[in-house]
Amino acid sequence: PHIARAGDAVRIGVLGGSGIYGMAGLKNTKWRKVSTPWGDPSDELLFGTLDGAELVFLPRHGRGHVHSPSEVNYRANIDALKRVGCQDVISVSACGSFKEQLAPGTFVIVDQFIDRTFMRQKSFFSTGMVAHVSCGHPVCSRLGDALEAAAREAGIIAQRGGTYLCMEGPQFSTQAESFLYKSWGCDVIGMTNAPEAKLAREAELCYASVAMVTDYDCWHPDHDHVDVAAVIRVLLGNAEKGQALVAKAVPHLKHRPGHCPQGCDRVLDTALITAPEK
Ligand code: ADE
Repeated sequence: PHIARAGDAVRIGVLGGSGIYGMAGLKNTKWRKVSTPWGDPSDELLFGTLDGAELVFLPRHGRGHVHSPSEVNYRANIDALKRVGCQDVISVSACGSFKEQLAPGTFVIVDQFIDRTFMRQKSFFSTGMVAHVSCGHPVCSRLGDALEAAAREAGIIAQRGGTYLCMEGPQFSTQAESFLYKSWGCDVIGMTNAPEAKLAREAELCYASVAMVTDYDCWHPDHDHVDVAAVIRVLLGNAEKGQALVAKAVPHLKHRPGHCPQGCDRVLDTALITAPEK
């Protein structure tokens, strides 16, 4: 395993959600199995180059969409990306919308999460090694800046900032839940991003997420309640745009500052609790 150090070549990790099982434009590609102490990642990792940067792509649900959101091994996925030297991780995933103006086909560069998941392993720490990392700002604003600029250049409509409600699933929400999350001011809903963001923070990786709207969940009086068929209808177009967005973000991320200005790469300096020396 190789853990990235300041000055190393930039390696960008990309976690692709439903409908994204590869990366268009990636050259010199090779799928490689990466093992971790947390078990197997969702799939092999796809290594390649894009616009002079190294990219490592991992399909979050596995090729063929075999892992449900509750069953994804989030710890192994994040650890695998860290082990192969990624410092930046961009997530691209489908989501439902709680806002009229966030119509299917629009993107949100998420900056907050409400985590309602309860069946997942979402910490690398436990008995014997206790740590509490700060999650007030759970995404890296440097990555957010890059994604915002990339969206502008690619002509993709993307809202900068937004709250992502992460639900357990796999069933979609009831209407009462949908109204509740809307009343909380949430922008979008999905089933995967919060555990990833928390684990990326613990792993001292810079993380950002692009949520691609496929539906209005089940609160909108003029739209059918979400189902898989509706998601898939919008998903394929979104997936193509999502890959284009990542490609456009690469030039903005190619020259990494020595340290993350937000401090994502050193959060553990202030997070560990150890017993005082006797
Ligand atoms: N993914 C896409 N649409 C969704 C929705 N409405 N709820 C949860 N996850 C989703």
